[in-house]
Amino acid sequence: MRERVVLKWGGGLITEKDTMKTVRQDVLDSLAAQLESCIREGIDVVLVHGAGSFGHMKAKAYNLADGKLPEFKSPDGTTQEEAVDAVREDMLELNQHVMDALTKYDVSAVSIPPHKWARNTGHDFEADLEMFASVPEGIVLVTHGDVVDCDKPQTFGILSGDDIVYRMATELPNVKRLVFAMGGVEGVLSEPPTTDSDEASLIEVLHKEDVFSQQHMDHIDVTGGIALKVERGFQTAEHGISVHLVSGEIDERVMQACLGNEVRGTVLTL
Ligand code: IPE
Repeated sequence: MRERVVLKWGGGLITEKDTMKTVRQDVLDSLAAQLESCIREGIDVVLVHGAGSFGHMKAKAYNLADGKLPEFKSPDGTTQEEAVDAVREDMLELNQHVMDALTKYDVSAVSIPPHKWARNTGHDFEADLEMFASVPEGIVLVTHGDVVDCDKPQTFGILSGDDIVYRMATELPNVKRLVFAMGGVEGVLSEPPTTDSDEASLIEVLHKEDVFSQQHMDHIDVTGGIALKVERGFQTAEHGISVHLVSGEIDERVMQACLGNEVRGTVLTL
């Protein structure tokens, strides 16, 4: 049986995070080419991508992360339900860019959006991941962060790709590694990446008990920022799976991390 790697392409990596619905095509192309190399090297990849500017802005504007708010009124008259549909559509559009990039590099892939197979949010969301285990060798399974249906009274909520990768990595057979490809950082930094980021240095090995400061961009990121990745990463590592956070913008670090080679980034250690 081929080794399996679960890979997250962060939304802040594949989109311009502050410009509504804008993909970073050069980054997508590079990531797709690296993924193709991994398949050629004989590993199977489960790919989960984030939302970036295709999800967080509207989700924030219409308070979707908090679920249904009976009193909610938006300045433009859009209902929360309309916003749920709009964000799902925007995510399908981003997913199409991802699928197109994979096709361009001859990667065969199938994609299923979480709003069709998952319910509720957080790492214990409801889903039967069995169907994903039967994807044939060499075919990349793709999914992404999404707005999913939730039990009442919440009704809907945001399911982060970081929660999805944790479940995929720990419930699918033969997963050896989990790799987070990120934008703007080379891994987990000792300081928040601010403008005078000379202060921030890369933590190459992060131990579970290490404390690190992080600035959570509350105004834009409606899921969990780096803290959620690290938390889910450690939960994954507890199952004996290697977890690596790397830059998706520099050289072929994502490919190297997926292949299990030593590469600059942050490795989580229990
Ligand atoms: C968020 O998913 C999904 C929506 C906002 C609809 P992620 O949490 O996986 O996205 P990124 O990687 O932070 O953009």
